[in-house]
Amino acid sequence: MTKGIIVSGGWGTRLRPLTCTIPKSLIPVVNKPVIERQILLLKTVGIDEIILAVSVMSDVLKNYFKNGERLGVNIKYTDEKNPLGTAGAIKLAEDYLKDENFFMLNGDIILNFDLKEMIKAHEKHKGVGLIGSRVVPDPSRYGVLIVEEDTNKILQFLEKNEYNPTDGKCIPMHINAGIYLLEPEVFQYIEPQKKVSIERNVFPNLARENKLHYYSISGVWRDIGKPEELLEGNIQLMNELLKNQQSKNENLIGKNLDVEGKVLIKPPVAIGENVVIRKNCQIGPNTIIGNNVYIGANTEIKDTLIYNGTYISENVKCEKAIIADNCLLHDDVQIVGNNENLVILSSFVEVLDNVRLIAPSESSLSVCHHDVVRLDVE
Ligand code: GTP
Repeated sequence: MTKGIIVSGGWGTRLRPLTCTIPKSLIPVVNKPVIERQILLLKTVGIDEIILAVSVMSDVLKNYFKNGERLGVNIKYTDEKNPLGTAGAIKLAEDYLKDENFFMLNGDIILNFDLKEMIKAHEKHKGVGLIGSRVVPDPSRYGVLIVEEDTNKILQFLEKNEYNPTDGKCIPMHINAGIYLLEPEVFQYIEPQKKVSIERNVFPNLARENKLHYYSISGVWRDIGKPEELLEGNIQLMNELLKNQQSKNENLIGKNLDVEGKVLIKPPVAIGENVVIRKNCQIGPNTIIGNNVYIGANTEIKDTLIYNGTYISENVKCEKAIIADNCLLHDDVQIVGNNENLVILSSFVEVLDNVRLIAPSESSLSVCHHDVVRLDVE
């Protein structure tokens, strides 16, 4: 097997306003776009022919990866004028994928497990599709697999919202983790030039014909569909990378870190390149700072993601927040979310002196890109 396709052309509506300026699959996860991490994972099993099935913000993705040379892979693109759904998107690559089995990934999942084991499992089951799966305590937000555990067969594939337990109580179930190993036969189940969803229109039919199996994936797995999942997924992956830092050769503190005087770093923390941290700051735990970020004196940041190019002035507090690229936070600003709801600043937001943005208990607090926030929101 040498090929993989990553579907990365959805709208990413649940991650707005972050996805108003960044395609979902380019959202950083521990300072690397989620889809770049997927490409590097595919490369570990010799997959170096990658197709990105793009649509929404396709130019941004093409400009970022170009032909893949930088990552040591060959990247081709299929481009839908309007999103054709996850199966409609891969149908466009049929000619390229028709000769041997291939991996298909949703471009919005964080993964780090040994793909070799999944390939072995597919060789054993000999189905048309093998679905990476996880057992989760609350399966209601995912596609649910009704399975036969001793054969690993999927008896029924229920897409999101089709799983309704009779007593209304969720129990742990196998869910669709968004990574598949597929035989080219799958293309026979997809009508060309139509909007077709692999989860709604293809997998249920394959399950009915006993051609679908599941594989229980290990390691970190997280769908970054929603902001809270994005924050949690970053923290989980950061912890995992810190555990394996030497073996994976991944340094979580970037080049040219400039720390002035006394600064308290409470792990786990990841910091990108060219970051300045001024005196008496407290950074962490559970904090990821991108490249070219400036953090002024007496600032406190925890449980927060900060993307590239953001400038934070003095005496600022950030907690349970996602702050996208190139934001500007003036003196004495407070950005504070809570356990359920975050404060999210999209790209190029400016928050003026002394402003307090506090997430309410019932929903996240989001600020649209290029907005200037002058007044408190509590
Ligand atoms: P939401 O609008 O928040 O649901 O996000 P989404 O549009 O990305 O949808 P979803 O999370 O269900 O998509 C899973 C993966 O499939 C993501 O990586 C999407 O980019 C991708 N995807 C979804 N629909 C399409 C499509 O029509 N075309 C392509 N090429 N990719 C798609």
